[in-house]
Amino acid sequence: MTERPGIELSEVLAQAREHYIAGRPEGARLHAEATRVMPGGNTRTVLYHPPFPLRVASGKHQRIVDVDGHEYVDFLGEYTAGLYGHSPEPILDAVREVLAEGISLGAHNRYEAQLARLLVDRFPAMELVRFTNSGTEANLMAISLARVVTGRSAIGVMRGAYHGGVLYFGGQGSSPVNVPFETVVMEFNDIEGAREAIRDNADRLAAVIVEPVLGSGGVILGDEEFLSALRDETAANDVLLILDEVMTSRLSPQGAGELFGVTPDLMTVGKYLGGGMSFGAFGGRADLMARFDPSQPDALPHAGTFNNNVLSMAAGIAGLTKILDDERLRDLNRRGALLRAELEGVMVPHGWAVTGRGSMVGIHPVPGPVNTYADIADADDRLRELLYLDLLERGYYMAPRGFIALSLEITDADIAGFVAAVDDALASHR
Ligand SMILES: Cc1ncc(COP(=O)(O)O)c(C=O)c1O
Repeated sequence: MTERPGIELSEVLAQAREHYIAGRPEGARLHAEATRVMPGGNTRTVLYHPPFPLRVASGKHQRIVDVDGHEYVDFLGEYTAGLYGHSPEPILDAVREVLAEGISLGAHNRYEAQLARLLVDRFPAMELVRFTNSGTEANLMAISLARVVTGRSAIGVMRGAYHGGVLYFGGQGSSPVNVPFETVVMEFNDIEGAREAIRDNADRLAAVIVEPVLGSGGVILGDEEFLSALRDETAANDVLLILDEVMTSRLSPQGAGELFGVTPDLMTVGKYLGGGMSFGAFGGRADLMARFDPSQPDALPHAGTFNNNVLSMAAGIAGLTKILDDERLRDLNRRGALLRAELEGVMVPHGWAVTGRGSMVGIHPVPGPVNTYADIADADDRLRELLYLDLLERGYYMAPRGFIALSLEITDADIAGFVAAVDDALASHR
């Protein structure tokens, strides 16, 4: 790809956009219609990209088809929520079955405790669990619980972290629409800096929240020593540690906390664990979670009309009991490691870095190494966009920002094809 970004790169990108537009008249038409009733025609910011975002009509197994009939192998995997692919029969069957029993029941049902049992048995740090509708809500509830039980108000966060739409600490530092929690911002993987920040702010910190792999912030792997330093320093200062495993719980059968040897006080999950339906959950130490026991006079409230909706509960159960055994998950993560190694072979010579762990992969137009958010801050977004558009033309879909999450449906041939497409795309612009 163009080694010295400049006027030539802008021209190449303009041509790629023209090509994208020319091939997608229906996508353009539907986008124009959407803009009349939605700001920017959009209701989920991450999906927007110029000149108009890809609009998908259907998906089956590991493939999606856009509204103009182009087919792509899906390497985005719905930002990790699509682990089961687009048409997992056991999950579709489970959803059909519960639909037949009626929706919006307005009461406890027979699925929620089953899914809770599966999660509590799976994740060692999760002694008790409660459900939400999203990972964002799960993090809001875990943080709010920490603030109540400690009586302190501030939260330690990592620069570049994403814990939900109102808990985003990338870009310029803190999203303007964030919830107004006081924060202490730390650098991911900076052991001494984080230790000092925790010690210096111990009297106001309720919790430190961290993703074991900075997911949306570039799929940057957390050092095990860094994560265990966070564990030690928070414990020594009576500050809670929250592991946000909304993405990373897929990295091992017991989650990334277990993989990296870190046991948090609270953890949050979401994405694929709801079987592809709306989902989130927070859980952890029984003494902390017990504060939500509504049979107790001083119980904390935790509301949510759809917290125990039968579709998410049944889909989550079917995924964990009928599809995802430990061996399949380990195999998926091994294949992610293989993809990363092969991508390095074709991307590093072009000045790109490949990051991640297991089935979560990031690709960045910077030479690397990438150990913290600052290492990708100066990446040229035009190079990311050009590769994204080039891959679409070759029949492969990933996130425009270079995020990849494998689903169980991705085959070895898909991986080989994807690597060849990346190689071809990068070589074509040299
Ligand atoms: C690490 C992490 N936490 C929380 C969230 C928020 O989850 P949701 O989109 O379900 O609100 C995400 C979503 O991408 C995430 O990656």
